[in-house]
Amino acid sequence: MITRNRFGHMPDGTQVEAVTLENATGNQAVILSLGATIQKWYLVKESIDLVLGFGSVEEYLGDAHYIGRTVGRYANRIAKGMFSIDGDNHQVSVNQNGNCLHGGESGFHNRIWDITDIQDSDTPSVTMSLTSPDGDQGFPGQLQTQVTFTLDNDDCLTIHYEASTDKDTVYNPTQHTYFNICGQESGEVHNQQVRLIASQYTPANDQGIPTGEIRATKGSPFDLSELRSLADLIQNSHPEILATNGADHNWCVDGFEPSQSEQRLAAVLVDPKSGRKLITRTSMPGLQIYTANFLGQCKGKQGAEYGPFHGVCLESQFYPNSPNEPAFPSPVLRKEQKFKSTTSYQIVTK
Ligand code: BGC
Repeated sequence: MITRNRFGHMPDGTQVEAVTLENATGNQAVILSLGATIQKWYLVKESIDLVLGFGSVEEYLGDAHYIGRTVGRYANRIAKGMFSIDGDNHQVSVNQNGNCLHGGESGFHNRIWDITDIQDSDTPSVTMSLTSPDGDQGFPGQLQTQVTFTLDNDDCLTIHYEASTDKDTVYNPTQHTYFNICGQESGEVHNQQVRLIASQYTPANDQGIPTGEIRATKGSPFDLSELRSLADLIQNSHPEILATNGADHNWCVDGFEPSQSEQRLAAVLVDPKSGRKLITRTSMPGLQIYTANFLGQCKGKQGAEYGPFHGVCLESQFYPNSPNEPAFPSPVLRKEQKFKSTTSYQIVTK
């Protein structure tokens, strides 16, 4: 079932809609046209909302942490905001330490997306579309982009991205939801556990820019091949973890092939107390695990108080700074190509 409601309006009066996807078990995901944002993911039986979020447009516009947003054109960082495609140099907007983070000063996360398709069934879905003009934040080409959210009866929330461009460009969308599988108001995630199906990661400098190396995780704190508590990661004294005050790193999900569009199992997040699990699958090469290290104190939905480590982001992506690293899978989208990628989050309760 699908319902559409008015969520609020932008300062210029443009309406922001909330689309509620409800599956046959009554569980719901609410998607906003502002930023193609996952505002809520509610489990009826457990009375739990799995994602951080806000109750008003004003709070979303005041949020600097991309809570729940669809991020683009280029999620994560591009060093100095510079890259070239076939010898053509591009300078894009820089908004963090002289680098481009999450699409630059005015990325996709605060745009109003058009609701272009709705499929009302017991696996409801909504498609939102955005046209990013040629030169948007410095990125070449007019990009037509779409994101479809589907909630199925196995409580799998699937996010499918498509895009095409009229000039060669780069495209790297992600979903920036802060999950807390104990409930959005339940505080720090230290006791939750994570396992990654990723035997390599991309070491980075203290600005989060990869050095270019793809390094095996074995024998290091980045080895998450067995379930480990998030506390183990957050409180680790490895210099790369100290530099980011917790996890804020890109892992290389095993088995990526550029020609394959199938999703692969990437991560399992577990709440040992309730046995609840969040399973992440993706067709993308990388997964940034970000433990909300820099989330400041703020008020969330229904009086919740958020602060550092109150959620964990599982951001599927091309590796950071891929436009400048020829050995990394390429984020270049050619004029004649169609971009397609899929990432899904499935909640399993006992
Ligand atoms: C980045 C963090 C950044 C955060 C912003 C994450 O994807 O990797 O470094 O602080 O987004 O909310």
